[in-house]
Amino acid sequence: MELSNLLSKTEFAHEELAFLLSLKGEERQALWKKAAEVKNAVVGSNVYFRGLVEFSNICSKDCLYCGIRKSNEKVVRYKATDDEILDSCRFAWENRFGSVVLQSGELSSPAFVKRVDNLLKKIKQLSNNELGITLSCGEQTLETYRRWFESGAHRYLLRIEASNRELYYKIHPDTPAHSFEKRVEALQFLRETGYQVGTGVMIGLPFQTLDDLAGDLLFFKKMDIDMCGMGPYIEHEHTPLFAHRYFLQTKQERFELALNMIAALRLLMPDINIAAATALEAIDPNGRKKALKVGANIIMPNLTPCDYRKEYFLYEDKPVLLENSVESLNELKSNIIDVGFEIGKGEWGDSKHFRHRK
Ligand code: 5AD
Repeated sequence: MELSNLLSKTEFAHEELAFLLSLKGEERQALWKKAAEVKNAVVGSNVYFRGLVEFSNICSKDCLYCGIRKSNEKVVRYKATDDEILDSCRFAWENRFGSVVLQSGELSSPAFVKRVDNLLKKIKQLSNNELGITLSCGEQTLETYRRWFESGAHRYLLRIEASNRELYYKIHPDTPAHSFEKRVEALQFLRETGYQVGTGVMIGLPFQTLDDLAGDLLFFKKMDIDMCGMGPYIEHEHTPLFAHRYFLQTKQERFELALNMIAALRLLMPDINIAAATALEAIDPNGRKKALKVGANIIMPNLTPCDYRKEYFLYEDKPVLLENSVESLNELKSNIIDVGFEIGKGEWGDSKHFRHRK
């Protein structure tokens, strides 16, 4: 089939997606251009900002790729105070971000659940109920998801990380705490509770094939997700998966494959929100901007209190940009406007997909 015909399709078979992901050179440019057109036609040229607050790196999980895994004893563990978290949220609100994302390592103790619950109420209070709140705090019980939803969270990010079960167990320990089935079930719980649900994967993992990635795209479609965040896998020295670094694609290849994934997903699910992931900038300083140009429409400036940033070190070269000053924010905004986008002002910027499925 001609590439131009394939790019005009709205439904794709597994092999067609794998083919799109394999594109290079001029053909890849055609894919990226088409994805940009679809994005502008379906979700418009607005870019929405979400303030990311990584409020604690304490984690009960032991994912084989992640720098803040439980067994990494080199990490200095932190918990930001309520005041620090609320200051970051206030900055987001005053700068007319539509929403904030509270992210942390995964804990499920009653104290943690209660703490998040209280934070949600306080954030709602400080912003006269205006600021939207997304949580990214891992797998929890249905009851916890419900409790947090009732206290004001309305979106939830939980990456599946790899939707092929076999690959999933190559990058996670095979223990009940890291059950693939539980992770999928958590995504279902979130949807059932009423959240806008976001998931995603890492791209360029050891053992991962284009078939796996095509399967990931179809998984997103099957789960009918509202939002997606995916970025390149980047090795971290103090993790078990680092031993497989010799089998990886180059960082540049992983970067370009990540852009192909974003573009292909925009064709497959035109009306969802797609984030330009921070990990892209561990490879290319303009990584997020490039992602916006091939189909992404969300950017998550890092508003984590500065002292903690170096301890939320998920992967090598993770940017510790200062995006919580008005100057750096303005620079980021003018960069985005320079490439022809508009900045969503104040609105939540819900995924159009979610609005339609309600
Ligand atoms: N490389 C890239 N992304 C990573 N994450 C964790 N470790 C790495 C890594 N080594 C991502 C996971 C997680 C998100 C918060 O960070 O996908 O869901």
